[in-house]
Amino acid sequence: MKRVCISGSGLFTPAESISNDELVASFNRYVENFNAENATAIAAGTVTPLQPSSSEFIVKASGIKARYCVNKAGVLDPAVMRPQIRKRGDDEPCLLVEMGLAAARQALASAGREAGEVDAVVVACSNMQRAYPAMAVELQHYLGCGGFGFDMNVACASAAFGVQAAVDAVARGSARAVLVVSPEVCTGHLNFRNRDCHFIFGDAATALLIEPLETATAAKRFEVLGTRLVTQFSNNIRNDFGFLNVSEQPGRRWDEILFRQEGRKVFKEVVPLVSELLVGHLGELGIVPASVRRFWLHQANLGMNHLIAKRVLGHEPGIDEAPVILDEYANTSSAGSVIAFHKYHQDLEPGQVGVLCAFGAGYSAGSVVLRRL
Ligand SMILES: CC(C)(COP(=O)(O)OP(=O)(O)OC[C@H]1O[C@@H](n2cnc3c(N)ncnc32)[C@H](O)[C@@H]1OP(=O)(O)O)[C@@H](O)C(=O)NCCC(=O)NCCS
Repeated sequence: MKRVCISGSGLFTPAESISNDELVASFNRYVENFNAENATAIAAGTVTPLQPSSSEFIVKASGIKARYCVNKAGVLDPAVMRPQIRKRGDDEPCLLVEMGLAAARQALASAGREAGEVDAVVVACSNMQRAYPAMAVELQHYLGCGGFGFDMNVACASAAFGVQAAVDAVARGSARAVLVVSPEVCTGHLNFRNRDCHFIFGDAATALLIEPLETATAAKRFEVLGTRLVTQFSNNIRNDFGFLNVSEQPGRRWDEILFRQEGRKVFKEVVPLVSELLVGHLGELGIVPASVRRFWLHQANLGMNHLIAKRVLGHEPGIDEAPVILDEYANTSSAGSVIAFHKYHQDLEPGQVGVLCAFGAGYSAGSVVLRRL
């Protein structure tokens, strides 16, 4: 078995960003309009009035201050409240592939590799563009890689699952180098009319290049010391969008096939699941948790990350030990932990250990323990 490393990373960030205040102003206009249109029914007690949202609540409950978005105008228009994207022909990259290509090219450049040296592409993400052909195969085509590609969806934990698949392929020699690409247009699956979750998600794409340690030439390489995955069934985060929706009798409303969650329950149940995964995995590798220099955690909720890092480290985590990107990006699903890694890995000294950890619906969680070379 070959020793394996992450030799490059890339990030695509959409050009437009929406602040909490902008999002809340649009949501509250929608609420005012709804309540005015339904004033008679509300007065008769047959319709429940909608409650306004607030920026203070969003920051306090989640730590989110803004989010990038592929289409700001559509999301903020109270009559639309969803991103509006250009319909594309079959002979041009779909939106997710276009975003993934930008991240993948950056990952290759940072690793000093050409596309032709890669012979597997894994697109690992939550929010798929379509059923098939696989986005990974389209991305492989436009990038100019050989070999093979496949898509995989393990919700917000997808990138960690993709890394394990890539590490196994490279270690066993079934691929020379593997790109793990996580493009997410989470705003396309978010109900911007639901006060409980309208602030949660943002859009972005990431990429990681995995290759054998002994032949990697990048200046900043991270050896993969181990990966560990866990899943445990839960209905507390669901997205029921699928091709059978139109066949179901009785049919579902449009807002029943978008993202929904029981946020409190998720918080309570995922913190112990992830903390135990990390402590167990580090213990198995003979690494004292308190010695870990950095945790690149999934970015869904600031309080949740704080608690997980505290449980694992045994002390209050500094911002340097568990960096935060969700304030600027919100929850970008599978891309979140990789964005944290991409932005905050340059300063690790040779020999220092960091852990990339992704978690989310399923439940699903993955730990990738890395050592800077
Ligand atoms: C979603 C989340 C931010 C909500 O925070 P919370 O503290 O649990 O908030 P709750 O949903 O319990 O709501 C608390 C109160 O604020 C209200 N509220 C909800 N959304 C609001 C909004 N946008 N503005 C103002 N008030 C709001 C609720 O109605 C509730 O009011 P009540 O106490 O009168 O009933 C939080 O639970 C979370 O992030 N959980 C983890 C989710 C996660 O990691 N998911 C993974 C997805 S991949």
